[in-house]
Amino acid sequence: MDASPSSMKLLKFLLLCLLCTMLFYSVMCSSKIHCNEKDMNTLLRFKTGVTDPSGVLSSWFPKLDCCQWTGVKCDNITGRVTHLNLPCHTTQPKVVALDEKDDKSHCLTGEFSLTLLELEFLWYLDFSNNDFKSIQYNSMGSQKCDQLSRGNLPHLCRNSTNLRLLDLSLNYDLLVDNLHWISRLSSLQYLSLEGVHLHKEIDWLQSVTMLPSLIEFHLQRCQLENIYPFLQYANFTSLQALNLSGNDFESELPSWLFNLSCDISYIDLSQNKIHSQLPKTLPNLRRVKFLILSQNYLKGPIPNWLGQLEQLQELDLSDNFFSGPIPASLGNLSSLTDLALDSNELNGNLPDNLGNLFNLETLSILKNSLTGIVSERNLLSFSKLRWFAMSSPGLIFDFDPEWIPPFQLQHLTLGYVRDKLPAWLFTQSSLEYLIIEDSTASFEPLDKFWNFATQLKFFFLVNNTINGDISNVLLSSERVWLVSNNLRGGMPRISPDVVVLTLYNNSLSGSISPLLCDNRIDKSNLVHLDMGYNHLTGELTDCWNDWKSLVHIDLSYNNLTGKIPHSMGSLSNLRFLYLESNKFFGEVSSLNNCKNLWILDLGHNNLSGVIPNWLGQSVRGLKLRSNQFSGNIPTQLCQLGSLMVMDFAGNRLSGPIPNCLHNFTAMLFSNASTLKVGYIVHLPGFPVIMTASITILIKGNELEYFNLMNVIDLSNNILSGSVPLEIYMLTGLQSLNLSHNQLLGTIPQEIGNLEALESIDLSRNQFSGEIPESMAVLHYLSVLNLSFNNFVGKIPTGTQLGSTNLSYIGNPLLCGAPLTKICPQDEKSNNTKHAGEEDDDDKSELYSWFYMGLGIGFAVGFLGVLGAIFFNQRCRHAYFRFLHRMYDFVIQKMNSIY
Ligand SMILES: *[C@@H]1O[C@H](CO)[C@@H](O)[C@H](O)[C@H]1NC(C)=O
Ligand SMILES: *[C@@H]1O[C@H](CO)[C@@H](O)[C@H](O)[C@H]1NC(C)=O
Ligand SMILES: *[C@@H]1O[C@H](CO)[C@@H](O)[C@H](O)[C@H]1NC(C)=O
Ligand SMILES: *[C@@H]1O[C@H](CO)[C@@H](O)[C@H](O)[C@H]1NC(C)=O
Ligand SMILES: *[C@@H]1O[C@H](CO)[C@@H](O)[C@H](O)[C@H]1NC(C)=O
Ligand SMILES: *[C@@H]1O[C@H](CO)[C@@H](O)[C@H](O)[C@H]1NC(C)=O
Ligand SMILES: *[C@@H]1O[C@H](CO)[C@@H](O)[C@H](O)[C@H]1NC(C)=O
Ligand SMILES: *[C@@H]1O[C@H](CO)[C@@H](O)[C@H](O)[C@H]1NC(C)=O
Ligand SMILES: *[C@@H]1O[C@H](CO)[C@@H](O)[C@H](O)[C@H]1NC(C)=O
Repeated sequence: MDASPSSMKLLKFLLLCLLCTMLFYSVMCSSKIHCNEKDMNTLLRFKTGVTDPSGVLSSWFPKLDCCQWTGVKCDNITGRVTHLNLPCHTTQPKVVALDEKDDKSHCLTGEFSLTLLELEFLWYLDFSNNDFKSIQYNSMGSQKCDQLSRGNLPHLCRNSTNLRLLDLSLNYDLLVDNLHWISRLSSLQYLSLEGVHLHKEIDWLQSVTMLPSLIEFHLQRCQLENIYPFLQYANFTSLQALNLSGNDFESELPSWLFNLSCDISYIDLSQNKIHSQLPKTLPNLRRVKFLILSQNYLKGPIPNWLGQLEQLQELDLSDNFFSGPIPASLGNLSSLTDLALDSNELNGNLPDNLGNLFNLETLSILKNSLTGIVSERNLLSFSKLRWFAMSSPGLIFDFDPEWIPPFQLQHLTLGYVRDKLPAWLFTQSSLEYLIIEDSTASFEPLDKFWNFATQLKFFFLVNNTINGDISNVLLSSERVWLVSNNLRGGMPRISPDVVVLTLYNNSLSGSISPLLCDNRIDKSNLVHLDMGYNHLTGELTDCWNDWKSLVHIDLSYNNLTGKIPHSMGSLSNLRFLYLESNKFFGEVSSLNNCKNLWILDLGHNNLSGVIPNWLGQSVRGLKLRSNQFSGNIPTQLCQLGSLMVMDFAGNRLSGPIPNCLHNFTAMLFSNASTLKVGYIVHLPGFPVIMTASITILIKGNELEYFNLMNVIDLSNNILSGSVPLEIYMLTGLQSLNLSHNQLLGTIPQEIGNLEALESIDLSRNQFSGEIPESMAVLHYLSVLNLSFNNFVGKIPTGTQLGSTNLSYIGNPLLCGAPLTKICPQDEKSNNTKHAGEEDDDDKSELYSWFYMGLGIGFAVGFLGVLGAIFFNQRCRHAYFRFLHRMYDFVIQKMNSIY
């Protein structure tokens, strides 16, 4: 109250000072963060080309300081934009279809404009995993730049000197037809365009070799075709890492790669089709640490010089055609941690020198032609070994039963083990992945073995002769894969940890009820249940309510019977259901809540009632072949836009073919054969990939397709009326079988639309009229059967229709080649006719008739889920060769290499 004026003054002064300071700081601060106007305008220009469905760039408007815009960072003194960091984050659901792309509906899309390169101080640019479709070079397209006068270059045409990192990877639909602009980014150190389409850019190497500072370069899966096989020298001066895996290189290994002026340390050329030998003499790769050449067609010997790459840590030559012995010189690679030589044609013994590789963590030499003995002597020094995989039919494992290894493995694969499993297996208490294949070894004592297996996460036994009874054995690995081992007895017990349970092709018998009903689990994680090709009997049980996580059930080729239970209808996650070749009867309406089915295979049972009309939109394969289904084909089916295989053959279907089949939009495209049906289960560690296959029988030849076909088979029913024109709009249709029905009418000219058609069977109906000339354009047609109809006139000539007279017999009014009956119009010019000819003709027709009766039968079927197991994608080819039914696993390497 009675404060003296002087103290008031002091207070005022202090307040003023405070104000000043605040003002000063706010001015200072705001001037510090205020973004440069030119930069802001550049960003706004960039924004105009971008489609931004979820408002990622909503903060990008002029009123707000652009240094505070999302993803933008400025230099805190100059206010110039230095970082643009806007990768899109996508999450994958646990189960996704193989042909389903990541959901990118929230990511940036539209046009990616290189106007951003006008940001003179930008050094970090990351728009990875977005969904950009095109790239906009503006007027700056580099060729144009070259033509512009030197004095007045737009900024881009000057060299953008600050950019260090450019990441546009995983924009899978982005087409970049020109990389010239990159050569101007003279400070670029890191470049990734992984997954971007670059097939139109033929000069990619030219553009990047101009970059003196480039250290890392990722162009994997870019559809590149030219690896410049004849270029001897490339100017990279700073390059450390080069990833060109998964492209379309088909030529030789290029010289330039081994003749770099820099000391490269990482080269990945895996998953191409490069087909030469490795150089004979030591190339310039002295500092290389990682050399990945797997999954190519490389051949010839593994050269000795590899042993001189002193710094080499990882060498992966698997899945090639290397032959000859494993060079002993590899034993000199004292830094080596990972050596993979799987699936080659290597022979000879395992060199003793490999024992010098005391840093080895991974040793994988599966599926070669090695001979000799592998014993503890070979493994004594590998104290760091975590991953051991060894198999060759001629290799003998002979371990001292008392031996205790110096290592604790995480992963073990053995194949062709005779006599006994190595006793040291049971010392491996950290083991998580165990794979044993093609072995005749005894697994005795089985109790000990099954008990040991409970510690595993991944338990995989294929094609062994275990002959054990697994009733009540507890299986608790996340993935259990026990295929073709002649396992006997009833159902095993499973723990809640089991996600994949495959007991395909064994001799299991009895009911599945103990597994499903007595084994109640609070929270089952089971996604995949496959017990096809066993001797199971009894009913399906009504215990499916407890197994809601199931995505895939295969119980085909057993002796199961009864009706399809209601509880199975509660499996709302179910995508694949194979119940083929059992003895099920009754109606299938109990499944009507399984709206997510992709494949429903109920073939070869005694099921009856009407064709299901409750199927969800996503169904791709529907096989009801050889049952007792009756009634009309419901028009509701036409809503199944994804349907690619419709097999209703051998039922009692009547009435007309619905006139809305053109609604099967998936059948409009002939890319079916590039699609696989299957799904990926994303599990921690590595995903499980399951693929389905289709088995098609054409005149006794059984062909198995791992990709989809567009197929309609309605044969052997009592369908009547004419074939609706809409069917001829299915331009991707590959096989059409309407034989053995009561169909009539003509084949319209529109059949020429079905350009993808490989097989058509209209035999044994009442079709009439002439065979249209347009069938001549069906270039892929290899099976044609029009026999036993009422076709008239001349068979069109000059076509693929040629086939044989069997295709046409039983049509008395048809004439012309390949039938011997000459058409009247041709007869005029041919006045000589041999007397005996007609008799011969009749005989051969009779004979063919008989033959056709036995031989036709074009069956389309899903023979269960087929797949392959990929270990590091290495064994794929080998599995494709010998497993009747295959399973895909992708096991990504545990020990990351980079
Ligand atoms: C400016 O940024 C640099 C690095 O980003 C940081 O080290 C420095 O402290 C900042 N200066 C100011 C005044 O904020
Ligand atoms: C860009 O750099 C390249 C090589 O570093 C040089 O040849 C070219 O003249 C430069 N272009 C401009 C416009 O400065
Ligand atoms: C390596 O490059 C040089 C040019 O620098 C060339 O003369 C030589 O032939 C190349 N070597 C090979 C093996 O291609
Ligand atoms: C590589 O460098 C040489 C000279 O060192 C030069 O003549 C040549 O044009 C360069 N090639 C490329 C593709 O940059
Ligand atoms: C190279 O690309 C492949 C395929 O995308 C990937 O698996 C591998 O980890 C990459 N290597 C590096 C060093 O990024
Ligand atoms: C099963 O293993 C044996 C060796 O034990 C092998 O000869 C045979 O080819 C294998 N069969 C299949 C189908 O892989
Ligand atoms: C099913 O049962 C029949 C007769 O009992 C038998 O002949 C057949 O082999 C069995 N099929 C399977 C797959 O077990
Ligand atoms: C054709 O498909 C569309 C949607 O895919 C559906 O709305 C329509 O009802 C279908 N037509 C018929 C006749 O089923
Ligand atoms: C006439 O008959 C002969 C054999 O008898 C045959 O080679 C020729 O192709 C026929 N010509 C016509 C036009 O059909």
